[in-house]
Order: sequence, then C-alpha cells, then structure tokens
Amino acid sequence: MAKMEVKTSLLDDMIGVGDMVLLEPLNEDSFINNLKKRFDHNEVYTYIGSVVISINPYRSLPIYTPEKVEEYRNRNFYELSPHIFALSDEAYRSLRDQDKDQCILITGESGAGKTEASKLVMSYVAAVCGKGAEVNQVKEQLLQSNPVLEAFGNAKTMRNDNSSRFGKYMDIEFDFKGDPLGGVISNYLLEKSRVVKQPRGERNFHIFYQILSGASEEFLCKLKLERDFSRYNYLGLDSARVNGVDDAANFRTVRNAMQIVGFMDHETQSVFEVVAAVLKLGNIEFKPESRANGLDESKIKDKNELKEICELTGIDQSVLERAFSFRTVEAKQEKVSTTLNVAQAYYARDALAKNLYSRLFSWLVTRINESIKAQTKVRKKVMGVLDIYGFEIFEDNSFEQFIINYCNEKLQQIFIELTLKEEQEEYIREGIEWTHIEYFNNAIICDLIENNQTGILAMLDEECLRPGTVTDDTFLEKLNQVCATHQHFESRMSKCSRFLNDTSLPHSCFRIQHYAGKVMYQVEGFVDKNNDLLYRDLSQAMWKANHSLIKALFPEGNPAKINLKRPPTAGSQFKASVATLMKNLQTKNPNYIRCIKPNDKKAAHIFNEALVCHQIRYLGLLENVRVRRAGYAFRQPYEPCLERYKMLCKQTWPHWRGPARAGVEVLFNELRIPEEEFSFGRSKIFIRNPRTLFKLEDLRKQRLEDLATLIGKIYRGWKCRTHFLLMKKCQVVIASWYRRYSQQKKYQKIKSSAITVQSYIRGWKARKLLRELKHLKRCNEAATVIAAYWHGTQARRELRRLKDEARNKHAIAVIWAFWLGYKVRREYRKFFRANAGRKIYEFTLQRIMQKYFLEMKNKIPSLSPIDKNWPARPYLFLESTHKELKRIFHLWRCKKYRDQFTDQQKLIYEEKLEASELFKDKKALYPASVGQPFQGAYLEISENPKYKKLKDAVDEKIIIAEVVNKINRANGKAASRIFLLTKNNVLLADQKSGTIKSEVPLGDVTKVSMSSQNDGFFAVHLKEGSEAASKGDFLLSSDHLIEMATKLYRTTLSQTKQKLNIEISDEFLVQFKQDKVCVKFIQGSQKNGNIPTCKRKNNRLLEVAVP
Ligand SMILES: Nc1ncnc2c1ncn2[C@@H]1O[C@H](COP(=O)(O)OP(=O)(O)O)[C@@H](O)[C@H]1O
Ligand SMILES: [Mg+2]
Repeated sequence: MAKMEVKTSLLDDMIGVGDMVLLEPLNEDSFINNLKKRFDHNEVYTYIGSVVISINPYRSLPIYTPEKVEEYRNRNFYELSPHIFALSDEAYRSLRDQDKDQCILITGESGAGKTEASKLVMSYVAAVCGKGAEVNQVKEQLLQSNPVLEAFGNAKTMRNDNSSRFGKYMDIEFDFKGDPLGGVISNYLLEKSRVVKQPRGERNFHIFYQILSGASEEFLCKLKLERDFSRYNYLGLDSARVNGVDDAANFRTVRNAMQIVGFMDHETQSVFEVVAAVLKLGNIEFKPESRANGLDESKIKDKNELKEICELTGIDQSVLERAFSFRTVEAKQEKVSTTLNVAQAYYARDALAKNLYSRLFSWLVTRINESIKAQTKVRKKVMGVLDIYGFEIFEDNSFEQFIINYCNEKLQQIFIELTLKEEQEEYIREGIEWTHIEYFNNAIICDLIENNQTGILAMLDEECLRPGTVTDDTFLEKLNQVCATHQHFESRMSKCSRFLNDTSLPHSCFRIQHYAGKVMYQVEGFVDKNNDLLYRDLSQAMWKANHSLIKALFPEGNPAKINLKRPPTAGSQFKASVATLMKNLQTKNPNYIRCIKPNDKKAAHIFNEALVCHQIRYLGLLENVRVRRAGYAFRQPYEPCLERYKMLCKQTWPHWRGPARAGVEVLFNELRIPEEEFSFGRSKIFIRNPRTLFKLEDLRKQRLEDLATLIGKIYRGWKCRTHFLLMKKCQVVIASWYRRYSQQKKYQKIKSSAITVQSYIRGWKARKLLRELKHLKRCNEAATVIAAYWHGTQARRELRRLKDEARNKHAIAVIWAFWLGYKVRREYRKFFRANAGRKIYEFTLQRIMQKYFLEMKNKIPSLSPIDKNWPARPYLFLESTHKELKRIFHLWRCKKYRDQFTDQQKLIYEEKLEASELFKDKKALYPASVGQPFQGAYLEISENPKYKKLKDAVDEKIIIAEVVNKINRANGKAASRIFLLTKNNVLLADQKSGTIKSEVPLGDVTKVSMSSQNDGFFAVHLKEGSEAASKGDFLLSSDHLIEMATKLYRTTLSQTKQKLNIEISDEFLVQFKQDKVCVKFIQGSQKNGNIPTCKRKNNRLLEVAVP
C-alpha cells in the first residue's frame, strides 16, 4: 500500500532537503551533511533547482523499475522526490511539447556514474516515448549501441571498473509526436595508448578479455587465438579478471547487440579478426642484429605470430615484415629507405596496433550510425546526451589525461556560462535588482590550454611541426618560457619559477591547476602522441591487406592517394571537435546531471566527506545554490506567460487587449501572489520560487479541469437539448401520424358501420317494397287470372255459342245442299248419266292446266343459262310436262345466250368446248382450266426486243408462245424453254437468248401423252424416222397444259386433217434416243408444296411424284 501512496510534492517524506535551494543555513557543512544524510538513506539524487546532483551508490538500488518509470511519467519536476527520471521526463516533455531541442550534460569525475546516468536517461526516454514495432526497433538499436561501444571503448581503470575511455555524444532524434526516429553518435578521442600499455592495476579494453573468455573454441581457433590471457603481451596481467564482471557473458551480450544494431555476420567476423590481429601484434618481438655498415637492425624473433597475423588479415608476410624493418621517407620525389633499430621496430609495432584499434573503433561508430540514422527527412527534434570521460588524476598523467581534463574544463565552462554567468547577466539585462555572486570562472584555464598563440595545445603543435630535433623536453622548455607567469601553470624548469624548490614536482613534469584540482602531467610521450605518427610503410602494408575492413581503415595507404601534407595533430583535432561540441550544446536547452563520487574505493555505503567536499567545491555547486536562491527559479517572456495562465483571471480570460506585461500584472495581483515571489523584468516575468510556479500550474490544471467541465457541461447540455428537440420533433411527427392513423381507423369503422346500417335499412326498405310490389303483382296476376278465366269463360261460352250457331248454319247449309243436290240429282239424273262425268273431268283438267300455266308465267326463272332454279311442280300428274318445260326453257335461253356471241368469242368457246371434250372427266387438271381464258401468246415475242431474233425466224402466226419446262431425260431436272406453236410447226427455243433449239412440223407429231392427275407434264411423241425425232420425244411441263394440248389438237386437225392422238394414262412410254423409257406418275408427298417432282429411277423408268 505504501507504494500506492502518491506523493504530490518533493517535500513529502523528505529526507534532509530534496532541493538544496531550501537548505537553511546554507554553507558547505550543511550542504555536505544534507548530501550525506540523503546518501545514507539511499537518496542518491538531490536537486539544486533544476540541476540534479547524483551520488554514485556503487550498488544497485530498486529505483529504476518500470513502476518508477510510470510514477515519474508526466509528473511535475518538483512533484516527486528527486530522481534522474524527473529530469529525463522534464527534458523529454519539453522537447515534445515545447519543441525545444534538449541536451543532457552529465559531468563528474571518472567513476562518478556518468555513463550509468546516460544509460538511465536513455532507457527512461525509450520507456516513455511512442510505441509500435518500428519505433521499438529504433529504440532497441539505440539502446543496444551502448554495449557494443562499451566493450570496445571502456576499460577497467583505477577509478572505475567500467571507465569510458572515449567521449561520447549521442543525438537522439524524434519526430513531432515524440517518437524516436534514430540517432547520431559522435565519439571523441579514444585513449588508444591503452591498447599497448596499461597502468598498474588497470586493464586493456574489455573486448580483448571478452573474446578470450567468451568465444567458442572453434571461433578462437578461427581467429588463431588462445584462451590464456598470459599468452598476450598487450594484456596487463595483474588485473586480468575484475570482480563482478563476467567477460564471457558480456561477450555474448556484445555479439547479440551487434546483431540487433544490424552488423552483418561477415562484418562481425571482420571486426573480431582485427581485434585478434591487434592482440597478436603485441606478441611480435624483435631482436637486434648488427650489420656490416655498423647500423643496428632489428629482426623478428619468432615469425610464427607474424605468419598467423598475415593469414588472419590477408597481408603478404614479406610486405609486413619489411614494414617492420624499414622506414621509407619521401621527400621531393626522392625515396629514402632507412632500417629500423629494435626500439623503432617496437614503436612501429605499437603504433600499428594503436592505429588499427582506434580506427576500428571509429569505424564501429560510423557503422552504428549507419544503422541507427533516421530514415526520414522530416524535421527532427533532438535530445543530445553527453557522456564524456570524467576528470582524471592519476599518479602518472599523460597526454590522454591532459586531453580528458581539458574537455572537462570546457564542460565546466559551459555550465558556468549557462547557469552562473548567463543567469546573472540576464537579471542585469532585464533590469532586475541583483547583487553579484562570486564564483570561480575557469575560462582562464581553458585559455591556458586552448589559446591559439600561447595555449599549451598550440605550443605542442608548434613544437611538433618545428624542423630540427624535437623532444618532449624541448616542448616542456617552450612551455616554461611561455606559460611561466600563468597563474594556473606550474613547473620547475623555468628559471624564475615559483616552484624551483617544489620537490613534489619532478623536472620532467608540468602541473596545471584545473578547476577540479591540480594535475601533474608527465611530459613524456606528449609529442609522439600528438603527432600520432604511423610510418607510411605500415599504412601501405595495411592497405594492401586482402581484408576489406582493414583496407578501408587505412585509406591513406593507397599509393595513388599519397598525401605529403601532415595530418592534423591529435591535439588540434580534439580541440576542434570539442569546439564544435560546445557550439552544438549551446544551441540546446541544457539539463545538468552532476555526478559525485562518494569514495575512491568503488564501495557502497562509504561517504568520504573530504572527497565529496572537494568535488562540491570545484563543481561550484554552492555558488550554484546561491545564484539560484538569490535569483529566480523561473522566467518566461510575458506573452507566453499570459497565454498560459490567462484563464486564471476574469480580466484576462478569454482575451486580454492591453500589453502582455500589464496582463501578467493584473493576473498576478488577482491571484494574490506575494510580491516577493516575482519580479517584472524588461521582457520577462521572473518567478522566484518553483513552488509559486507549481501553484500556478496547479491552478491552471484545476482551471483547465473546470473549463473542461464547463465545456463538457455546455456540450452535454447542448447535446441533450438537441437530442430532446429531435425527440420532441419526432414525437410530434409520430403523434400526428398516429392520430391520423387512429382517426382514419375510427372513421373507417364508423363509415363501415354506417354502410352496414344503411345497407340493412336499404335492404329492409327494398324488401318491404319488394313485398309490396310482389303483393301488388300477385294481386294483378290474380286479377289477370281471374279476368282471363272470366274472359276465357266468356269467350268459350261465346265460342260455344258461335260454334253451335255455325254448326247449326252449316248443318242447315249441308242439309240444304244435300237437299238441293238430292233435288237436282233427282231432277237431272236422267240427263247426266251419259257424258257429264267426262265433261266435268275435262273441264276440271282444263281448269287446272290453265291455272298451272298462268302460275308458271309468273314464276319463270332468269334467262341465265347457269340459273338452276325451277319452280316446284304443283300436281304429280304434271311431272313429265314440268321436266320437258324446264328442258325447253333451258335450251331456249342457251340459244338466246349464244346468239349474243361475236365470232371471236365463238372461237374461244369452241376451243373451250374442244378442251372439254378432250379432257373433261379424264384429266384432274381440267376443272382448274375452265375458268382461265385461253390466251395463247403468253410471251410478248414481238414486243420484247430480247426475242427479236426469234421473231424474225418465225414468219408464221404464233398460236402459242409460252415458257415450258423441258424435262431432262437423263436426270429428270427441268430446264426452261420457250414453246412456240405456229400453223405448221412446234418450236422450242432457249428462254434467255431466244435461239431455236428444235423445230418440228406438225405432221411429225404423232401423239401427246399425259397423266390423268393434277400435273402439267406431257410428252410430245414424234413420228419415228422423222428428222425431228432423232433426239427423241419431248417431255415437257406447263401450267397451261390443257390450253396447249387443245390448241395443238385443233391446229393439227386443221392442218393435217388428222385427229391428234391424246393419250391420258398414268403410265406411258417415251422414246429417248434409242431407248423407250416409261414415265410413271405416282402419288407423291406434299413436301415440295404443289410442285410435282421428277426423278430418274433407272434406265427404263422416270418417276413423277404428283402431290
Ligand atoms: N546509479 C547507479 N546505481 C548503481 N551503481 C552505479 C550507479 N552509477 C554508477 N554506478 C556504479 O559505478 C560504476 C562507475 O560508473 P560509470 O557510470 O561508469 O562512471 P563514469 O562514467 O562517470 O566514469 C558503474 O560501473 C556502477 O557499478
Ligand atoms: Mg563513463
């Protein structure tokens, strides 16, 4: 439960004071006591305003868990107890929300916990920034770059088991949302001398030990290495193993990290090959050999190691061997080769090893940068994390310490600039009342080192470039001359030195009073290390290596790119890169973590007050507190301040029309902020106490919540109202529709009941009426019946009376007639008997006949011969008379009809008669021909110009001109021909051209045959032996068969006085050339319509199917 309690201020459960600004009284003792008290209670972080002091606990504390991350996430800086996470969160949020690039400056002595702090910052930022597969990969790569660089760049030193031997500045890049995009790492001067030599109790870089402990046998064998550390000269033996460090496990971590960062397998392999080569280089030993010319010469003792190195790196053994024995100096197109003595050979070997290693390290940084660089070109926000080697004071301090300490000097400078100087200057600039606070400004020390003319680095460079013999001593001499009077420089060499009698200062040393203490530097090696010389023979040998990585590490070895210009010295390079770094840091919003080392023993729970006091002093922390206390914790230009807090006051919310400063004044008055808590600068408001700011922030938060509630309220009100109005509208619509519907229903019901009632009433009325009408009708009927009966009775009675009367009359008449007849007969009986009967009979007959004829006269039918009407016969005995009369009348009217005819008509009827005689009842085709007038010339031969030739050839009168089908005797197919009949001849001509095909005199026509059926086929038989008969008889078909046959018959009769034989039979023979073929007519199917089909069945049979 205790964990769940949420602190709302760093004042809650505070041990000592969490913020030194609150310390009372403020002096060094209370400061240290407060730190100690907190340290003893595991509170390793303390604030000075926004600066975090971190004391290295030298043991792992449970304050970096994910729960802690969550606790500090998005909380105000002073809300919780001091923590590095609070600073990280502040920096990250400021970057994300206020778009300010950040840098985290971590300073402190070696072993004070800078590297750890930088890692904590990075892991915190990684934990709170965006998530997602891509982002996580970026984060992972950024974080995993640390183990790789630490393995290659860190080593155990006297002060720190994991001391960074290089400076590192890492820019983490974020997008506008605060998601990490990538990063850029810059490295500063690796302490490469460590590769070949380590001070007592220290180790070489971790990677060497890691390979030997962690690599598999197989891998070691591949690298031609042995597991035994003592086999390698470059590995200091006395501290090969470090307590609490598992090199083997770390090796696996490094390999894994390399894989995550994106190293390819072959790249990793190459890297380890180079590491192995460096290690093995140390084992090459030289022995002196005197030469005849008296010069010393060196020789490799055991070439086995050399051979293995060459195998590993693909360098030609002889090339490397030569590079270790000779040195070629090129001057003015002249090459001079000199031999190397043993010392020179060792120097060359070590130079090669150092260069190989440091270049490998730079390559690693470049390679990592390649992997972690941001992939997009969008605008980036940057958070820089600076973890540089800490201030170092060793027994023997050399060039490296000089450089490292210079760097720390510069960082202190930037701290002073930004927190002490800049801040105080700002108060003056803004016109705030201010009493200046004294502090030590280390600018003078920086100047001692980096001044372009008189600075130590400048002089070292000058010395290195000077012709003539240059040694470390000449350099020291020069230093003594130039810097003797400098306050922070001490040396015994200078004549009038204040330190002539200072025995603690050896002659070969100089001492600098750094901001963090006096450091004595051994001048030995300064020139060499600054020169950083690698014989050209060696770089060329490396370039020739059959190993792509090594080749790439020594581009200057390429003979094609020989550059006689000296490369910049190590010192000037470092100075330049530090200057760039400082410039870079100044553009960003700084966040300080000041690391303090509690003891020199790397031990937990020990708080060495003297040591801490020293660090507090040189870090200027007390001054820092003083400036902070005297000054203002927070400042902000008026406009953004008003913009941020205007909602806290009615006058300024929502809009303030006047100047921003006046607005802020109104605001602060309204909020009743005590006057001593703030000051109005020229352009900024200064707030003294963070608590005031937090109060403002809390009010703002509260107000924002109120505003949000208000907005929410209004919105909800609006929403509910809109909803309500909508519902109301809907309700009205629904109600109206419902009312309409229900009224409709009701109306319908009423209507239908009305109709029902109405219909019942109508029905009732109608029934009533019907009943009445029926009654009336029945009454009427009854009356009628009664009347009818009455009339009937009357009528019958009358009838009976009349009948009786008539009967009586008739009886009287009959009786009278009988009586008369009787009387007459009695009287005339005697005359009557002889002929009266006959006479009466004849008279009666006559009377009847007369009457018959008189009636016939009136009933006589029309004069049309085809009128079949005839009156009925009145008396049976007139039967024969009646028939005869009919016959006579018919003959008479036929004659009458005939008498009207002209001669031509007569001829036509004669022909028709002839046809009738010839074909009636014989040929089925005949009845159809009766109605058709005979035309003869169907074809207008004389008129049609096409037949002009035909017309000319025939000079006689044409009786028939018609198109007929000539049946091909071979296959029964029909072909059109013109059939012409003249007085003397029968002609067949081609239908198209009119050419005469055959001409037969009528005398040669013997017979015409045809079927009895309804077809137009006919055969014209020719006289045997006649000229025309040579081709055989004609089998033709025509629509006007009856006419043609009749005309042929008549013409033949008139011309030859012989009757043409017309044979009507369903089977007849036709002469075809030599053969006689039987033409047979059968009843065919109707599939071709009404057209008869003709088919040759065999030699002797031609079958015509007639439908
Ligand atoms: N916050 C911490 N918690 C626990 N141990 C720490 C912490 N900071 C530093 N250390 C210990 O101190 C050692 C030195 O810290 P390091 O960061 O390497 O120092 P620097 O980089 O300042 O030289 C680390 O190896 C670690 O054992
Ligand atoms: Mg470090």
